[in-house]
Amino acid sequence: MSDRHPKTDPSHFSPVMRDLSVNPGAEIMRYAAVKPDIISLAQGDSDFGTPDFICDAVTKAMKQGLTHYGPPLGIPELRQELSDYYKRIYGLDIGVERMFVTGSGSKAMNFCLKALVEKDDEVIAVTPIWKNLLSSLELAQCRITDVPMDQENGDWSLDLDKLMDACTAKTKLILITSPSNPSGWIMQRDQIKALMNFARERGIWIISDEVYSRTVYEGRYAPSFLEFATDDDLLFVVNSFSKTWAMTGWRLGWLVGPRAAHDYIRDIALYDYMGPPPFIQHGGIAALRDGEGFLKTQIDLWKRNRQTLQDGFAQSNRILSTPPESSFYYFFKVDGEPDDIALARRFVDEAGVSLAPGCAFGKVGTGYLRFCYAVSEEKVATALDRILSVIKD
Ligand SMILES: Cc1ncc(COP(=O)(O)O)c(C=O)c1O
Repeated sequence: MSDRHPKTDPSHFSPVMRDLSVNPGAEIMRYAAVKPDIISLAQGDSDFGTPDFICDAVTKAMKQGLTHYGPPLGIPELRQELSDYYKRIYGLDIGVERMFVTGSGSKAMNFCLKALVEKDDEVIAVTPIWKNLLSSLELAQCRITDVPMDQENGDWSLDLDKLMDACTAKTKLILITSPSNPSGWIMQRDQIKALMNFARERGIWIISDEVYSRTVYEGRYAPSFLEFATDDDLLFVVNSFSKTWAMTGWRLGWLVGPRAAHDYIRDIALYDYMGPPPFIQHGGIAALRDGEGFLKTQIDLWKRNRQTLQDGFAQSNRILSTPPESSFYYFFKVDGEPDDIALARRFVDEAGVSLAPGCAFGKVGTGYLRFCYAVSEEKVATALDRILSVIKD
């Protein structure tokens, strides 16, 4: 705060904001931001620019004058395109009335939380999980029950019995991310089906974050909760254009919900921001329609980068990790280095590389670091050499 302004007593701000937990990932990024020549791999962003055909569609839409307010749930053409996309890629019939366009995956998540939970509602979160999702729960003032996944040296698995046992009569919803950021773990169909059936019987909502659903190394898409849900099940699926088509700065995402959610989400969107920008949504239409080739190019690069890291990590006796099945993160730990924040700082100071500390993804991530490899092969190779030299045996 500038000296010229009097300090404002924190009690003027809301207690929820005052008590919000720190975000160790954001702190490392701030720590690294003031250092020279940092290779920044702490955030989930790609080196690729958004492809021209997407940008061109938006320029055209702007020039056509689509610069006014639009419908709160998105323009009908994009909602229809989303419905067609689920049919074409996933083989699913999901009507337009269940497709809600949002100004990012983050907004999609916050909209469904707003629609569902009130203060002190019990929410189950499967961890490790992206910190922002945990913070969204904090902001919604839920009681969070953390269900940590099991892990052995970077190999993550979900004990479904443990998850079901954690549910009580008061559980309002289960939040799960598959494919996972940070671990790249993918939930398999038998588990999805069993969890969907369980939640249906118990009247518990599921929010499934499927933002990495297309960034997979085998097959075309990761199994989705939508494959096992009816039009009326208590299920929200959160998705985004950010990762699949290198559109992080566009702030465009979507939500698939049950039919009954339509009016609630519409009203939340109306009062939050009056809906996503219409011209931006034309970029979304272009991505869904013509973006498969671009996605393949990205996945090919990520596969090469994953291999480079796998080979490099194998050279060190200290690195414990398993190659991810999806996403573009390598989640690893270093033997003898239990303090991931301290190690992340050392990597900034001694290697000029910023990585996300694992504790940001929940307690079970402590000791891990997340390396985002959605960047050029040269950057990955240089960052790898530099961090290996810091931890050499
Ligand atoms: C699991 C997960 N969900 C949601 C998001 C947010 O996506 P968006 O950029 O659309 O807000 C991210 C971004 O990193 C993410 O990792």
